[in-house]
Amino acid sequence: MHKDAPTTETNTEPSRLIIRFTDENDQTAVRNFYARNTHQHVDIRQDAVWNERTRNGRVMIVEDEQRSMGFATVAYDFHAVPETPKTPSLMTKVKNALRATFASHAGGTDQNENAPANTKARWVELGSTTVLQDEQESAYSMIKGLNLYPLMIASQTVYEFLVNTPDDKVLANVYEDNGAVIHMLNNKVGWHFFEPEDAILKACSDTKVKDGHHTAGRKWLHATTDTLPHQARFILKTIEDGTTNGLLNKKTQKHIRLNTDQFSLVNTYKRALQALAHGPLADTLENSVHIGMKNAHVLLEYHLKEAIVDMKEQPTVINNESPSICPL
Ligand SMILES: CC(C)(COP(=O)(O)OP(=O)(O)OC[C@H]1O[C@@H](n2cnc3c(N)ncnc32)[C@H](O)[C@@H]1OP(=O)(O)O)[C@@H](O)C(=O)NCCC(=O)NCCS
Repeated sequence: MHKDAPTTETNTEPSRLIIRFTDENDQTAVRNFYARNTHQHVDIRQDAVWNERTRNGRVMIVEDEQRSMGFATVAYDFHAVPETPKTPSLMTKVKNALRATFASHAGGTDQNENAPANTKARWVELGSTTVLQDEQESAYSMIKGLNLYPLMIASQTVYEFLVNTPDDKVLANVYEDNGAVIHMLNNKVGWHFFEPEDAILKACSDTKVKDGHHTAGRKWLHATTDTLPHQARFILKTIEDGTTNGLLNKKTQKHIRLNTDQFSLVNTYKRALQALAHGPLADTLENSVHIGMKNAHVLLEYHLKEAIVDMKEQPTVINNESPSICPL
């Protein structure tokens, strides 16, 4: 919303930035955001792709309380070239059986059970990551200088791992003359460089309009399973700071507080986020080579189930209430 637009705000509480994933009501706002905040380092995707991503909660946004959007980033599904169907391997059968067991243990709340067909991706690309450029928008003074990029990318990576789990990994491509983003992704978020295979290049190009893109070369970086614990810790710390004292905006020197009431990653998925950040599962993932996101998700399911069983068996539990079983 334009900063001069009338608002019904009457209280004197300092305003906060709301962080959340989108739904079908956000389609127009997301399209408008990208139409008004073009940048040579952000390729234009097809409107139909942006709409579908928005509807299905695959866009993460930050907005102010007047619904002025200040930041957006999008997850795109990439599929490998389909192979000829073959008889499932023993490992696949075991994994499927484990998933079925844990889904029923958690009261049928396993996300994959109800996941739309389009989520069975081999890779998820995070892209279209853009901060508001228009000084006339009301969110501008809070968002510009806040440096939310590492939080946005880490959050969307962990969320995609938990909810839309690609087989292999999460990845991104950055123009090689975009030093700030390469630096942040590699050094702050903890992603690594890699060389993409042709299937990734083709899937990426299929989401975009054909012409008018920047011509610089690109660097590709990926979030492998060993990077998840650092990202989970970064999210927990930044959200803790952001919801208590607020995050320092280096441009205005003001602290900006975050409202995470609608941010499912730190509400619905808090137990999973904590398990990824600290403890035996985090240690295992962090000190192992990349095992693939799907496999790491099976480990997480195992870990959470074991934790629930441990809690039930504790002799010191003095009330009769069962421990709550959160979705991952
Ligand atoms: C990328 C973007 C979303 C990040 O926004 P942001 O989180 O608000 O971060 P800022 O742009 O304010 O600054 C980023 C950081 O990079 C640092 N930086 C700037 N130029 C740098 C460079 N050449 N090398 C290393 N670091 C650099 C800044 O100092 C700042 O870090 P600090 O807060 O620790 O000082 C925003 O810059 C943007 O919209 N850029 C245009 C679109 C784009 O490039 N998108 C990414 C596509 S892959």
